[in-house]
Amino acid sequence: MTRSLSLHSRRKLKPRDASRFAYEAPPLFAELAAAVCETGMLPEKELHECWQMAQIVDRAFPDSLRIADIAAGHGLLAWILVLLARKSEGLRPRTAVAVDITRPKSADSLAASLLKKWPELSGSVHFVEGSAEAIQADKATLFVAAHACGSLSDQVLLAALRSRSPLAIMPCCHSLRKQQESLLSLAQLSGYSAGVPVRSPLESNAGPSLVIDLFRKEALASADYDVQEAMIQPEITPFHRIILARPRTEVRDPGMALTMGHSRVPVQRSGQVRAFEKLHTLNVADAKETEALSHRPSREWTRFFDLSFWMKDEALVPSLHDELNRLMTALSEQGQNSWETRVTVRDQYWNPATQQRACTFRIEVRSVAVPIEKADALRLRRELGHGLDAFFAACPGAFRRRGD
Ligand SMILES: C[S@@+](CC[C@H](N)C(=O)[O-])C[C@H]1O[C@@H](n2cnc3c(N)ncnc32)[C@H](O)[C@@H]1O
Repeated sequence: MTRSLSLHSRRKLKPRDASRFAYEAPPLFAELAAAVCETGMLPEKELHECWQMAQIVDRAFPDSLRIADIAAGHGLLAWILVLLARKSEGLRPRTAVAVDITRPKSADSLAASLLKKWPELSGSVHFVEGSAEAIQADKATLFVAAHACGSLSDQVLLAALRSRSPLAIMPCCHSLRKQQESLLSLAQLSGYSAGVPVRSPLESNAGPSLVIDLFRKEALASADYDVQEAMIQPEITPFHRIILARPRTEVRDPGMALTMGHSRVPVQRSGQVRAFEKLHTLNVADAKETEALSHRPSREWTRFFDLSFWMKDEALVPSLHDELNRLMTALSEQGQNSWETRVTVRDQYWNPATQQRACTFRIEVRSVAVPIEKADALRLRRELGHGLDAFFAACPGAFRRRGD
């Protein structure tokens, strides 16, 4: 016995479920469902959500040939938008980038299953681990986001506004308390002068989703966007509203670019660094750049420490630089741990009183495969010190460690 469709089911579809979709129309949906079932990893609800949203978005923006699916999760929305353009009548060579701070295993399984069915889609969708806050587009790109929770949907709107990009979002998890800051940024960037909605009787009557989405639409209209609303079937999810907006003018407000500086993407830190933390700007319009970024490893380890020296004159800086490089390369090879090392001059100045040059070097170690613990960095620093003692002994009086 085959079970009928269950629009809101969170149960993951399994290969045996494919038969339930076999006679669904259009045939493309049945084929897509079979490929999704094959992965065994995606809940049924998400298939319906993404399919229905993609239909609406494709109808509203048939000519958009470049898509950025932000907070993409498994990336199904991006894939369906590409599929609709390439498999419906009148082939449109659409490409997409799916962006999320983490690339779930389901994203790889989904890509493999879809490419098995449609090998000709190879290279049309790339997945980049990046943050919504880093996104920009220097060419026509449609920004889409399905269920980017709470303020994340505002980040998508902010990114779209900064690039004057068209957009389609289906927001969820609205919270007037948690979204005060992002809604304020939206008001500032769009030039919307009405105050940011606060928790009020209005909220209890209308619910935060209505209040916040209305605010979003008005902010977009203030920024000279043509705004529309659409719905997927409410049986799938209570968060079924889609905001569709297209800029009436392409010209960017010069003030908008200024807010790029406020990105809250974390700065590089020591220890384990995830791919998205290293990406401070991501041009989603550039298919070559996003393809290259899609091949990065998800995480790497970096450690660094600084060493400062006095030396007799500036000409000695390169020779110490070379020696540090040589020692670090030798130390990392000794451990057979495939760590990359880098030595850079971080700071230097001339002290006229002592007639000496001070120079600070930054020593960085990076590894993709093997974690670098704090203790490893301390050991490297110690061993580097021993190596330098021998180098300094060979050129007496030329160098002195600061603080010695
Ligand atoms: C509710 S899921 C939605 C996933 C997918 N769009 C869907 O409809 O199934 C929200 C996604 O946002 C991602 N996310 C969280 N913070 C993010 C950020 N700053 N930038 C990009 N993605 C983010 C999460 O990793 C998660 O995959």
